[in-house]
Amino acid sequence: MERKGAVLTGLPAFIAALPKVELHLHLEGAVDAATFARLLARHGERASEDAVAALFDFSDLGEFLAAYGRVCGAMRDAEDFELATLEALRRCAAGGARYVELFFSSHAHAGLSYVDMLAGIEAGADAAAAECGVETRLIPAHSRELGPERGLVFLEEVLTHRTARIAGIGLDYQERPHPPAPFAEMYRRARAAGLGVTAHAGEDGPADYVRDTVVLLGCRRVDHGYHIVDDPDLMAGCRDAGIDFTVCPTTTTHTTVWRDLAAPDHAIRRMIAAGLNVVVNTDDPGLFRTDLNREYELLARHMSLSPQALGQIALNGLRASWMAPERKSRQLSAWSAEIETLVAAAGA
Ligand code: ADE
Ligand code: ZN
Repeated sequence: MERKGAVLTGLPAFIAALPKVELHLHLEGAVDAATFARLLARHGERASEDAVAALFDFSDLGEFLAAYGRVCGAMRDAEDFELATLEALRRCAAGGARYVELFFSSHAHAGLSYVDMLAGIEAGADAAAAECGVETRLIPAHSRELGPERGLVFLEEVLTHRTARIAGIGLDYQERPHPPAPFAEMYRRARAAGLGVTAHAGEDGPADYVRDTVVLLGCRRVDHGYHIVDDPDLMAGCRDAGIDFTVCPTTTTHTTVWRDLAAPDHAIRRMIAAGLNVVVNTDDPGLFRTDLNREYELLARHMSLSPQALGQIALNGLRASWMAPERKSRQLSAWSAEIETLVAAAGA
């Protein structure tokens, strides 16, 4: 008991010291109330208290996406994107992330070109690298609600304006009734062009969407994936195939049927127990008022994860990342040694 108490006392410090990656983070969802107000002020608008309070008022995925849309509406020029990116990455670094793959929703900013948006994000990522040493890659994400034809146009734009930071593509927004299958051609072309591919599935949609994301879209990484627990055969198959799942503990309490992180049947607990490669992320830390250290703490406290298990999850993240292979293998050795030392010091 005493030992457990001692470990728990040191848990925040242990987690803060863990080298971590963030692979599931939406730029627009990283905007917090203060940054939202600053963005509006840049365009001569004031955010009423009601408008800011409304930002955080959602009880399911649809309401959340409406709030996300309001933030998107406040990001209107390249400078807005630079400011939001720098703020988001500063908070990543403060939350213990050293490497970040950042989603952005290019369709959601009427009147701003993809090129200008990307220029703003690149400038923010450069500034964050210089200021806090955080390395950033980018994942433009297509809204599945717009359908596969617009998905092909989206992909063409991404490929035409590809920079070294563009690591891959994503697929997000409402899962139902927008299953993965119609996006198979878009994903085939993205993979053929050498892009990484990931897609949201199993947050609100069924286990079949997780299967189709892996089998039809060719994703070896799935964002969320929680409903996989409804299909034990699929769980075993994804475990054996080494599929990675970027899970987001706080998100589950807002947008899924698993609202209680301490519940014995919580999907993330069952995914870890089934031996799936789980990576911990924040998803939308501004809107959900969280950060990466807090997400690790939530899992540790509610799911009784040991320092060793947390260290393993942090390493899973690096393995699942789209970092260049040579650099990844060097980092894996360095992080393994660093984590081993931290775990030993935590008395695990
Ligand atoms: N876009 C930002 N966060 C999302 C989520 N949790 N689900 C679907 N789309 C999103
Ligand atoms: Zn997400």
